[in-house]
Amino acid sequence: MSDTPTTPVSTFLLDGRPIPFLPGQTIMQAAQDAGVYIPHLCHHHDFAPIGSCKVCSVRVNGRMIASCTMPASAGLVVESEAADINHDRQRLTQMLFVEGNHHCPFCEKSGNCHLQAVAYHLEMQDTHYVHAYPHHEVDASHPDVMLDRSRCILCELCVRASREVDGKDVFTIGGRGPHTTLMVNSASGQLKDSDVAVTDRAVHICPVGALMPKRQGFVIPIGQRPYDTADIAQRPEDS
Ligand code: SF4
Ligand code: FES
Repeated sequence: MSDTPTTPVSTFLLDGRPIPFLPGQTIMQAAQDAGVYIPHLCHHHDFAPIGSCKVCSVRVNGRMIASCTMPASAGLVVESEAADINHDRQRLTQMLFVEGNHHCPFCEKSGNCHLQAVAYHLEMQDTHYVHAYPHHEVDASHPDVMLDRSRCILCELCVRASREVDGKDVFTIGGRGPHTTLMVNSASGQLKDSDVAVTDRAVHICPVGALMPKRQGFVIPIGQRPYDTADIAQRPEDS
């Protein structure tokens, strides 16, 4: 029998509310278990955090830190829903929009996209920064899976899912700075020559419209998709 406690042993304060946590949990995990939404993009409850997007940053005892990687501990005073913190989250989200080519009205993922949903949640009205319109390769070589790097936010969820769930290691992040990109581990660098299958968790976990099964983009009509009908904060089960 394990000695690991399964009931919360202590609490920290999140925006003035006591949040119970289990040993080893992060602030994000404890908040999600308590039904409190902290905006995030690269975090997913099924995978170890990598702390790359910083959208989940909170103020802990006066210092900004990613809540998905920060261990919870008793007595912490955490701020999340502060105007300046949400302002910074909005700026990070706006940077992601201009660093890629995110054209929501034409995207199959619209209404089911975490980037779009977080932008709505943060009441983003424009992209603030000048659009970079970068050139990114589209890989439509596979019969059942497509990869549009223009929409990739480099969250590494497909990398983690392929490695940890599918046992394949199909994806990796390569390049530097503005040339950082999602790469496919195959001789040609194309999906058609990789081990990827349309049933892989990696193909379905993408929070944006970068990695998707083909011919399923409009199975659920626009207007009836998860974030067409509810703010992302009301759908904690998705992420
Ligand atoms: Fe994340 Fe999707 Fe890009 Fe993979 S393809 S790194 S899941 S945004
Ligand atoms: Fe925490 Fe991305 S969700 S850094």
